[in-house]
Amino acid sequence: SQVYLNGAFMALEEARISPMDRGFLFADGIYEVVPAYNSVLFRFDEHLERLERSLREVEIRNPHDRQQWQVLCEELIERNGGGNLSVYLQITRGAATKRDHAFPEPPVAATVFMMTSPIAVPAADSPDTASGGKAITRDDTRWARCDIKSISLLPNSLLRQQAVSAGAMEAILLHDGFVTEGSASNVFIVHDGVIVTPPKNHAILGGITRDLIVELCGQHGLPFAEREITEAELRQADEIWITSSTREVVPITQLNEAAVGDGKPGAMWKTVARHYVDFKR
Ligand code: PDD
Repeated sequence: SQVYLNGAFMALEEARISPMDRGFLFADGIYEVVPAYNSVLFRFDEHLERLERSLREVEIRNPHDRQQWQVLCEELIERNGGGNLSVYLQITRGAATKRDHAFPEPPVAATVFMMTSPIAVPAADSPDTASGGKAITRDDTRWARCDIKSISLLPNSLLRQQAVSAGAMEAILLHDGFVTEGSASNVFIVHDGVIVTPPKNHAILGGITRDLIVELCGQHGLPFAEREITEAELRQADEIWITSSTREVVPITQLNEAAVGDGKPGAMWKTVARHYVDFKR
């Protein structure tokens, strides 16, 4: 496949970065994942706004303006044959001459890397035949700034592996007895007929898919509340969903060893999945 690295498009096999890159040494960088359907970028402004915010929070200068980012993404999509692809975009603080925790002085050029991956057919595309997945619960062992889309993903990676080892598709994380999010997704529940998701704060990534679902709930007058979710509410939920740019909105039908609701994708999920697909078109 074709990738973009520091000003040039090339075959993945040709791409090389320095072992002194601060992304490699310190996980000192941030990333975005932007889906494209039929080669058209989806919620691009929202993703770029979050990218700009992540860069600001870690004090990496944005190497491109929005127009330039869009041109790069579109060219990369085209060079990879187009269709339904997610664009991965990573920016690190760059390669310094020595390993020092503090930022390089004078500053070095940021490293910019972009690649694409095919998007699997999402569950929301076929609400009537979707089967749903399993999730496990785990303690949220991450840092205090999960709102930054940092490439420092070791805890997320360890937690996702625990899910996979347990035959699950996601680990739903609990901090002091409250749901934060999944290892790479946001979480919604349906409780007493109301769709609930935790508020955006430093404990979770402000998901673009999450925000769209919230918007769709408003547009279609679905009962919705943004508030903290206790572990007990999660366990008693009639429905649980996870959301992300690559999975859209997926029903969780088994939590640990227990069925969620009747163990099938719920009616509210089907409604939201249909609205999501209509919005995408
Ligand atoms: N992850 N929370 C975390 C920790 C995530 O890593 C992600 C997405 C989300 C959902 O955000 P969005 O709806 O904007 O994709 C929430 C991406 C897809 C990834 O790491 O591959």
